[in-house]
Amino acid sequence: MISIGVIGCGHWGPNHVRIFSQLAGSRVLMCADVDEKRLAAMSALYPQIQTTKNYQDILRNPSIDAVVVALPTNFHFRITQEAISVGKHVLCEKPLSLSAQECLTLQDLAIRQNRLLMVGHIFVFNQGVVKLREYIQSGELGQIHYAHSQRTNLGPFRYDVNALWDLAPHDISIFNYLFDNAPTSVSARGHKCLGDNLEDLAFATLDYPNNIMVNIHVSWLDPKKVREITIVGDRKMVAWNDLDIEGPIKLYDKHVEKTDVYYATYGEFQLLSREGSIMIPKIGINEPLKNQAQYFLDCIVNNKSPVFADAHKAYDVVRTLAAISESMNRKGEMVKL
Ligand SMILES: NC(=O)c1ccc[n+]([C@@H]2O[C@H](COP(=O)([O-])OP(=O)(O)OC[C@H]3O[C@@H](n4cnc5c(N)ncnc54)[C@H](O)[C@@H]3O)[C@@H](O)[C@H]2O)c1
Repeated sequence: MISIGVIGCGHWGPNHVRIFSQLAGSRVLMCADVDEKRLAAMSALYPQIQTTKNYQDILRNPSIDAVVVALPTNFHFRITQEAISVGKHVLCEKPLSLSAQECLTLQDLAIRQNRLLMVGHIFVFNQGVVKLREYIQSGELGQIHYAHSQRTNLGPFRYDVNALWDLAPHDISIFNYLFDNAPTSVSARGHKCLGDNLEDLAFATLDYPNNIMVNIHVSWLDPKKVREITIVGDRKMVAWNDLDIEGPIKLYDKHVEKTDVYYATYGEFQLLSREGSIMIPKIGINEPLKNQAQYFLDCIVNNKSPVFADAHKAYDVVRTLAAISESMNRKGEMVKL
């Protein structure tokens, strides 16, 4: 039985409290928040959980094995570092830090302290995304040409990070997982509409090895809630819509063939589109946060590295975010990683 402390009980932290309270291998002993109203809300739901305004009470408690850091991003590095230093395993929300170098600092610390450090790249625990990876890795789609994702909604707004740092960690962690790689260069534009400080939206183009182009659109200023990815291969194409619970994945047996007919006027060959059926595979409906929490517990119990969401994966995401920010500041100039 792993005993958990949750630091940060705003919008997202209570979901961690719920999941770790439900799983057979864990229990939540404490939760912390500087806001008394949030603590009162947690006590009303979970009277058995001890609450505190001071997260250090959690770090000092020898009965707590692991902590979840569900705080605003600028706290992630410092509090994760403190928690590992006093011997706790840590599941930290995305992005692990605002600096790529700090991700490596945390990785080294976790190795030295022999503690588990995992980042909440929740979408690699989403069954739909796992299926996309299967299609890519098995060769079902053929050679990948390009992919694009859209993650938009009206709100929720953040005041600590812009829409890129809030939303794109999900898409970058997904594409890195799908292609087993990190981008080699990026170019991006962002736009500040609601104020002068933070970009409310971003369009980023990422180059992955093997000549794969990826485009990511994130925005918290959009009329439609969209969570979609399309991947185009030279054999098949696939579309994923996380909000379509009946059939989130559609595999299109469509591709383009080159004929060897010679057309003097139009070029050496003609392109013919080939259209087959559309397949909707059955996808398990496990809650991704539950899969993520179970993986965290399994890694602790079996002393295994959380390969799908470890500090190095977080490093790849954060250095990509930093490169995209740099490109946005330079109005879309290409930045190499
Ligand atoms: N994986 C996901 O899908 C997902 C979804 C939402 C949020 N998140 C991540 O979770 C984290 C938290 O997001 P949120 O939406 O819950 O934010 P939030 O602002 O709603 O909650 C943060 C909470 O931390 C508390 N807090 C601030 N400083 C503190 C301190 N020093 N000690 C104790 N408590 C403190 C605040 O009072 C607040 O209640 C962010 O990193 C965000 O990116 C992840």
